[in-house]
Amino acid sequence: MAKAKDFIVGLGLLGSGTVGEAIQDLVFAAGNRKEPGLRLKIAKIYTRRPDTGHPKKKKWYTTHRELFTTNPTEVIDHPEADIIIEALGSEDERDLATFKGYIIRALGNGKSVVTSDKAVLARFGQEIWEAAARSGQEIRFEACVGGGIPIIRALTQSFAAETPEAIYGIINGTSNYILSEMDKYGKSYAQALREAQERGYAETNPKSDVSGLDAEAKLMLLAGVTFGLHMSPGGVWRKGIEEIHPVDFLYASRKGRSTIKPLAVARSDGSTVEALVAPALVPHDHFLAAIDGATNAILFKGQKSAAGDREDKSEIRGWNYAFVGPGAGGGPTAVAVMGDVWELARGAREHGAGFPSLVAPGTLAVQSQARISACFYVRFVVKDRVGIVADICQAFGQAGINVSEIWQLGHSQEELENLHRSYRLDVKPREILPFVITLERATVGQMTAALAAIRRKDYILVEPVWLPIWGTG
Ligand code: HSE
Repeated sequence: MAKAKDFIVGLGLLGSGTVGEAIQDLVFAAGNRKEPGLRLKIAKIYTRRPDTGHPKKKKWYTTHRELFTTNPTEVIDHPEADIIIEALGSEDERDLATFKGYIIRALGNGKSVVTSDKAVLARFGQEIWEAAARSGQEIRFEACVGGGIPIIRALTQSFAAETPEAIYGIINGTSNYILSEMDKYGKSYAQALREAQERGYAETNPKSDVSGLDAEAKLMLLAGVTFGLHMSPGGVWRKGIEEIHPVDFLYASRKGRSTIKPLAVARSDGSTVEALVAPALVPHDHFLAAIDGATNAILFKGQKSAAGDREDKSEIRGWNYAFVGPGAGGGPTAVAVMGDVWELARGAREHGAGFPSLVAPGTLAVQSQARISACFYVRFVVKDRVGIVADICQAFGQAGINVSEIWQLGHSQEELENLHRSYRLDVKPREILPFVITLERATVGQMTAALAAIRRKDYILVEPVWLPIWGTG
């Protein structure tokens, strides 16, 4: 009997950077015959920079030159491309609008779309999902959150029967890499950032990683599938890691028995959802404290899974499921993209067109940023004189905030000189005094009011650094 011919699904690939090239590796090099009867074939690849002659020229350009184009419509409109993969790295707002245009055009052409571009979904999600619904096509985005970790699939399918309370964790590999290296090896922020870029973790514009924008975009998607929220940019209270100094690790560790981790949190009290992205103090014995480098970890807390297991220690610390894996880099992201591609190629359409979520859209509201609350760590660097702590505590008191502890370490000359150098301070190193005040639960609004008063004081040498303390209060 003659062997039946394979069914071929054509792919149009937009992007040939870190992720795009890793996708080509998976399709070209590893062999693409994963399933009997089904074969994937790249129809066309769009690259903005073929870089021929450049030492870092595209890996597959020489052997597959005929597939490459610098015209994106040749990919989007290609008659043999059934699925369009968007793996472009955006550098600015104009890129985002352009890439949104590519996605909507592909959907309009009757093609499904798989994307690793969380920035575009965060900025134009509503418009994109409406276009998908209009065309009856699917858009898949597993690779947008947590690199290779299959979290979107878990939330939308495996936890369909759950009532979600919280989804949180470490979802920016670059920030986690930088903070881990600073903590473990005392590296400077700049050195650790450079290494993260060299390892291919960072976005095209690393500012989006360190400022928390990348994590914000991912959190918006997580909050979407978990809580049915269509959050708009700006709905998340966001802080970057740029202001973290090695001295913060000294205080966190020696006084707080904690490290500092880049957290993203969406949690619900049953009527509103708090969403925040910030570096936070995480106790050394918390699960997330051990997650180092570019590894991501996403913890999920669901009401139903907690029932009957009240003695479980992990439940006490606010989670009952942990998803851990490589969160950045071409390989894991490409694997996540191709997971979506294979599922679409098989014709699995569990989600239907539209945005799946655990809680019906419209049930929960987004908590306003000013009302988000936590216990806080505030690190000061002052020009020392009598009465400063009393003065600062009075300002917190006036904002209705209870002071918890005052942490003051004896600093070596070297540590003071390091502060002096890194902040380019205009006083003598021996006049500098760093210390920390920790606060009981307060809202972001209260903190903003208190710090507005404090930062005007003449003894303040450096903008106070204030971080949530995770797992207390
Ligand atoms: N720049 C991202 C990160 C890559 O550092 O996590 C994955 O989205």
